[in-house]
Amino acid sequence: MSDVFKAVKISDHVYWVGAVDWKLRDFHGYATERGSSYNAFLIVDEKVTLVDTVKAPFLDEMLARIASVVPVERIDYIVSNHAEMDHSGALPATIQRVQPEKVFTSIKGQEALKAHFHDNNTYTTVKDGETLSLGTGTLAFYETRMLHWPDSMLSFYDADGILFSQDAFGMHLASAERFADEIETSVLTYEATKYFANILTPYSNQVVRQLERVLALNLPLKIIAPDHGPAYRQDLNWVLELYKTFAAQRPVNKAVVLYDTMWGSTQTMADALIEGLIAGGSAVEVFPMGVQHRSNVATALLNAGAFIVGTPTLNNMLFPTIADVLTYVKGLRFKNLIGAAFGSYGWSGEAVKQAEQILRDMKVEIVTDSVRTKYVPTQENLQECHQMGKTIAAQLANLKTG
Ligand code: FEO
Repeated sequence: MSDVFKAVKISDHVYWVGAVDWKLRDFHGYATERGSSYNAFLIVDEKVTLVDTVKAPFLDEMLARIASVVPVERIDYIVSNHAEMDHSGALPATIQRVQPEKVFTSIKGQEALKAHFHDNNTYTTVKDGETLSLGTGTLAFYETRMLHWPDSMLSFYDADGILFSQDAFGMHLASAERFADEIETSVLTYEATKYFANILTPYSNQVVRQLERVLALNLPLKIIAPDHGPAYRQDLNWVLELYKTFAAQRPVNKAVVLYDTMWGSTQTMADALIEGLIAGGSAVEVFPMGVQHRSNVATALLNAGAFIVGTPTLNNMLFPTIADVLTYVKGLRFKNLIGAAFGSYGWSGEAVKQAEQILRDMKVEIVTDSVRTKYVPTQENLQECHQMGKTIAAQLANLKTG
């Protein structure tokens, strides 16, 4: 194995020594159709320093990449920027193998690592703004709490102008390329949007605050190197501006419609509603949840203006696929949405009210009465759904968007 996996030099002193997870398709409930990568970085300075590690099963691959540059025992320091196990899973075994002089992490990082591994490893905690000389260059640490865990911090290595940004600016994308400028922009935009929507949305305010605070330091930034996906070395403003746009969640004239169906009635209602939205001039993204994934709904909601939910009633409850996706997107705390609910039922019909209540809990502004149909919709019911679509489209058209 050691002859197969090589490090990739990404700047004068820094090598990528991570792992590409080509077959990953589920990241704690997030569908990763393009796989992912766990980026670890080796700084070869007088003090050889490893920044973050990889998911536990990729330990040997990471060690092999390191060994293609220096013997692993040459590592003096390890930095843990983020304790989530896709970056710390291989840390205990790496410490055991390398026996580094010190392992640096934030105060919250130490708490989190102890609570994960329950071992006797000793961590050296660093405070916001603290620096560490590596010889030629200096590493500076910046705490970025809740971007996206309490322990999260960024590290900046001044000799190469490289910001190790852990999950910030990351994306789930398995690729042979290590830099964003080698990858098609449409792929980057989609995967960056999906990552933000599914991981960072609840912390949008902190994202902007923390990033603006670090950027205000006017660091001589040349490369942004996240823990997932490619690094950025050209047009850093592209990704910085993208993040500001994501965090603002300014609604556009687009409705997200999701539904599921038992015997076709709620689907027929959805079809009438969608026609109404289109007739009213609204863009539409439609998610039949029997064949769609919750994380794609989250991606669509990041810049949507409306969120409309259709659910049959099953045993007095929401249809299970709808309960799943509503639980997921409620936790992500999307902002600036209007919406409504609809669906068919047989005799009790609670589900539409339950969906509407969840929308209210999400602070979605309910702008039109819900529509419920007993068993199979009549022409009159379908007209109501069509009108619901037109009403919402009219509201979207009046939005101050962009
Ligand atoms: Fe990639 Fe929050 O871990």
